[in-house]
Amino acid sequence: MAYLKLDHVDKVFTRGTATTEVLKDINLTIEKGEYVSIIGHSGCGKSTMLNIVAGLTQATTGGVLLEEREVNSPGPDRAVVFQNHSLLPWLTVYENVRLGVDKVFAKSKTRAERDAWTMHNLNLVQMAHAKDKRPNEISGGMKQRVGIARALAMEPKVLLLDEPFGALDALTRAHLQDSVMALHQKLGNTILMITHDVDEAVLLSDRIVMMTNGPSAHIGEVLEVALPRPRKRLELATNPTYVKCRQRVLEFLYERHRFVEAA
Ligand SMILES: Nc1ncnc2c1ncn2[C@@H]1O[C@H](COP(=O)(O)OP(=O)(O)OP(=O)(O)O)[C@@H](O)[C@H]1O
Ligand SMILES: [Mg+2]
Repeated sequence: MAYLKLDHVDKVFTRGTATTEVLKDINLTIEKGEYVSIIGHSGCGKSTMLNIVAGLTQATTGGVLLEEREVNSPGPDRAVVFQNHSLLPWLTVYENVRLGVDKVFAKSKTRAERDAWTMHNLNLVQMAHAKDKRPNEISGGMKQRVGIARALAMEPKVLLLDEPFGALDALTRAHLQDSVMALHQKLGNTILMITHDVDEAVLLSDRIVMMTNGPSAHIGEVLEVALPRPRKRLELATNPTYVKCRQRVLEFLYERHRFVEAA
């Protein structure tokens, strides 16, 4: 049984009489605990695909199944982390996470348990020390950590990450990638992540889904990353499997499907 399944998903955007077919016949199944990345050129429809899984956008035809049940609207079983943090500026770090916890566990956890669970998740992303700060008082990387804590705290079946490290400098990005890898190892989450970054895709993923250029983008190729976990970035740089995977993704992106639009 597929845990998450995108079944013949098409997406057409209509504006007046103009229609654009963004996604064409997307079929993908993801197993529980798998880390799958989507890579493709800008504008090909990656976010649209993720938003359909999140229930924020409706597929024109076809649909998404999570544990064999159709997904039509957003829900805490599919938590999303966007490229630019979406924390509420008037709430503290603690309150931003607690808000989600209260929503999901209002009935099943006591107040004290919800407090402990909020702190537990802030600890997971090493942000407990900043619990009383507001978003404008912490760095970009820290905001993304809080966003990840908020998502994890809802115990989603699937964690959806739309370029979660995209707006960060290289060092912070590497640090946060390591954190997400460690969390995935520890918690066994099912993760669907969009990225532009070939190294990031290979380092983090069990499989890399490569999208063709739009319009009518579809899955061109799926690459299995057969590298054992835990993975260490420094050791991987010279690992033949790593190098081969990286090469394959680069070839796909820059030879078969050249960048067609300036972005
Ligand atoms: N609400 C909408 N209405 C009309 N067109 C849209 C809408 N949302 C997205 N599009 C179009 O769909 C296409 C895919 O957009 P999408 O944001 O999914 O791309 P992407 O692969 O995530 O790009 P990027 O890598 O730049 O984030 C684009 O051509 C975009 O203009
Ligand atoms: Mg996008």
